[in-house]
Amino acid sequence: MTEQPLLDVTDLRVLIGGRHILHGVGLDVAGHGVTALLGRNGAGKTTTVRGILGLVPRSGSVRLDGEETVALPTHALVRRGIGYAPEDRGVFAGLTVAENLRLAERRGAGEPAYALVHELFPELKQRARQLAGTLSGGQQQMVAIGRTLLNTNRLIIADEPTKGLAPKVVTEVAQVLERAAEAVPVLLVEQNLAVVRRLAAHCVVLADGRTAHRGPADELLGDAEAARRLLGVGHGPLTPHTAEADS
Ligand SMILES: Nc1ncnc2c1ncn2[C@@H]1O[C@H](COP(=O)(O)OP(=O)(O)O)[C@@H](O)[C@H]1O
Ligand SMILES: [Mg+2]
Repeated sequence: MTEQPLLDVTDLRVLIGGRHILHGVGLDVAGHGVTALLGRNGAGKTTTVRGILGLVPRSGSVRLDGEETVALPTHALVRRGIGYAPEDRGVFAGLTVAENLRLAERRGAGEPAYALVHELFPELKQRARQLAGTLSGGQQQMVAIGRTLLNTNRLIIADEPTKGLAPKVVTEVAQVLERAAEAVPVLLVEQNLAVVRRLAAHCVVLADGRTAHRGPADELLGDAEAARRLLGVGHGPLTPHTAEADS
């Protein structure tokens, strides 16, 4: 990457309960499009995201637009424009779609961008009064991603947004992410390689709490042996068959 990355993580370390979970993660997120964060289960992807956001104690360097943020608390990072769609989606089942969005409005971040959210996800407008708990997994994911677009964010981090979804819904969520990434750069934690292939320009692979590989996504995905060695088989589709169906 020649231009300055939007997010530049160097030697990120996380120690929880006396156990080293991350021992030297490095990654860059480009200022546009999707960067994928890959790795087997337990490799440290979620902990990396939580470290970037200051949700776990961390050391190393995390620069956002060139500015060091590793000592900042989570609320300051959120104010600086990092939007987060967590692994469990964090959608309030007992609230309506509109209420879920309203709760995400950040004070002092300008007018909430409902026009953008509703343009990208018309379904959220149609279903504004529906209880979020009665939405499908894909629709809940739209709420989770829509919330991150409501405020003026510089970066969106989405942790396994397609996890546990049926293949058709995976395709829907991939479309949603593709459109979201036109507005704001995305760091996407993803196990579904068909989704990575469709969306990501760059990828970073973690193994055992460290960065094991970084480079162009098509290079890694085009190298079956490297993909198998770095990502393993049998925990996600290595043969693309879902998100590519309509691309
Ligand atoms: N709060 C925690 N306390 C202790 N161990 C943790 C904690 N969070 C994660 N781990 C461990 O750290 C490793 C990485 O976890 P995680 O970041 O969730 O991996 P991934 O998201 O890549 O599946 C796993 O071995 C997990 O059990
Ligand atoms: Mg995880």
